Amino acid sequence: MTIKASDTTNAQLELAAQALSLGSLVAFPTETVYGLGADAENSLAIARMFEVKNRPANHPVIIHLSSQDQVNYWAVQVSGFAKALMRDYWPGPMTLIFSRSPNANDLITGGQDSVGLRVPSHPVALALIEKFRELGGRGVVAPSANRYGAVSPTDAEAVRAELSEYLTDDDMILDGASPAVGVESTIIDCTKDGPVVLRPGAITVQMIEKSTGLSVMSSEDTLLRVSGSHKKHYSPEAQVLVDGNSQTGEGLIAGSHLKTPPGVIRLASPTSVEEYARMIYSALRQADTLGLETVRVIPPVGDGLAIAIRDRIRRSAAE
Ligand code: TXA
Ligand code: MG
Repeated sequence: MTIKASDTTNAQLELAAQALSLGSLVAFPTETVYGLGADAENSLAIARMFEVKNRPANHPVIIHLSSQDQVNYWAVQVSGFAKALMRDYWPGPMTLIFSRSPNANDLITGGQDSVGLRVPSHPVALALIEKFRELGGRGVVAPSANRYGAVSPTDAEAVRAELSEYLTDDDMILDGASPAVGVESTIIDCTKDGPVVLRPGAITVQMIEKSTGLSVMSSEDTLLRVSGSHKKHYSPEAQVLVDGNSQTGEGLIAGSHLKTPPGVIRLASPTSVEEYARMIYSALRQADTLGLETVRVIPPVGDGLAIAIRDRIRRSAAE
């Protein structure tokens, strides 16, 4: 089912902002994936969010803001190159890591001395955060709205399937237009002399270099080292194998130029890298809905967004 942005009404947004103020959780669409939001200044709400996700407490969460004028509340030592990035790519699929201010507590930062901030561009996300701000809110912490290690949700139905049994009647799940990007935001460490990409996404190395005039530390090899990559994440129940040796009864995710062998269940045939990013998570979920044991994935080639897709595929296939 296609869900339209108009499905989330102004009245629902008001209710959702109030729910956040009262310490409840609100799942909402962003241009990357759905997030599970909580008031960034309510420790009890944040603790519940970790519980609902079954996420280890030492994993930091991103604070979502509606405007960059809220950055200085949460962060200190905002460098010139970070300001250039904010100006060029916010609102958008980019998270910046700064040294934290005393307002960002250990629950948010996982005990680290840095904090991750992002201004999303999805109209429902922006409107929710803005309405929450009108009620006195300073920011919304939101990890992807999936159980820890599972596939990130890119539609409200997937959020329901992941989290409904852990949410209460006071929590809310907002519907909205399908994410335009489909994979998580680019994470850029801005605490060093120059930008370092910690997680690749739609804001590419070329875009970062163009904006900052600095060279960016990030090759696929560097990314593997920085994020200790072979940790399993983004994983369906089905086993993910990164090759094209599909057997009868297995699922296949591959670009539209590749044929489906007889007896193989085609889960996605994206015609471009952008479409590949939008389809990858729902295709992995579909493998579980169909009860498949194995899904083969042939990753896209090239730079830019293709690097982000290969990163997620590699992790979903990790042991
Ligand atoms: O696109 C996105 O970023 C989505 C949407 C909902 O905004 N959010 C998302 O959140 O992907 P999550 O929690 O699933 O992933 C956030 C990543 C984690 O890998 C976390 O370690 C990293 O961001 N992170 C957050 N704060 C950090 C910090 N202070 N230093 C380093 N990494 C940080
Ligand atoms: Mg996640």
